[in-house]
Amino acid sequence: MSTILEMTDVSKRYRTAGGFGRGRKGFLAVDGVSLHVERGEALGLVGESGSGKSTLARMANGLVVPTSGTVRTDGQDIARLGRRGLRRLRRNVAMVFQDPLASLNPLQTVRQTLENVFHAHGETTSTAELVALLESVGLGADYLKRYPHEASGGQLQRVAVARALALKPDLIIADEPTSALDVSVRAQILNLLADLQRDQGISFLHVSHDLAVIRLYSDRVAVMQRGRIVETGSSEEIFRSPQHPCTRALVEATPEAELPA
Ligand SMILES: Nc1ncnc2c1ncn2[C@@H]1O[C@H](COP(=O)(O)OP(=O)(O)OP(=O)(O)O)[C@@H](O)[C@H]1O
Ligand SMILES: [Mg+2]
Repeated sequence: MSTILEMTDVSKRYRTAGGFGRGRKGFLAVDGVSLHVERGEALGLVGESGSGKSTLARMANGLVVPTSGTVRTDGQDIARLGRRGLRRLRRNVAMVFQDPLASLNPLQTVRQTLENVFHAHGETTSTAELVALLESVGLGADYLKRYPHEASGGQLQRVAVARALALKPDLIIADEPTSALDVSVRAQILNLLADLQRDQGISFLHVSHDLAVIRLYSDRVAVMQRGRIVETGSSEEIFRSPQHPCTRALVEATPEAELPA
């Protein structure tokens, strides 16, 4: 296996209220974190609210710039990428967000949303290609002409996944991709992501506060607390013998029915 994402000693300090950091140190949301994701692997990132998961996930594709530390995708330091390199980064590392409705432009049809991804990278596409893309996420061709308000949350999240898949990324960062959805469609979306990992060899960094979800859909788990990773291990290890109190609390908060026998 080769490493698709490697973050080394990465920190993020936000300048919080107080006026451009005057006399203030700001807030250290991520504090010296190192992690890696191998090709074809799904790494689950769990932790309590505010522990820095989204900040860390966004640093992995350059949406948030680290205060210190290095982020490498496919061996390349993203801080050293020029314009072309950044374009390539955006192709190779795609994102799926929590709220599909908020992440899609309400004034654009699904066709326009998908076409824009190709156009942004100087590429053309065809109806056949767009239909195939929709089919790969379990939607029919009739969705091409729909606007976001004409689809359900689960269907929209499928569109968001199709948009992420459009340029054949190596890594998808999914930040709470099912938290905003009805319980009844959560498993469908999670199964779709698992299929993509298995069938297309796509790697995942999957952020969730739900350890049951992470256990089922991740190979490895990293647990965050107050900006740090306090424990990592295989999904099985983390459940069988959680070491850190934070991990234990998360395991204990997971309903019995969802724990392994
Ligand atoms: N742009 C910002 N400016 C200032 N502080 C921020 C900013 N974004 C996040 N924070 C703070 O950094 C900390 C980590 O936030 P982050 O969103 O990464 O946590 P999280 O683990 O994703 O939480 P959740 O589970 O609620 O999504 C929080 O205390 C948050 O208030
Ligand atoms: Mg978050």
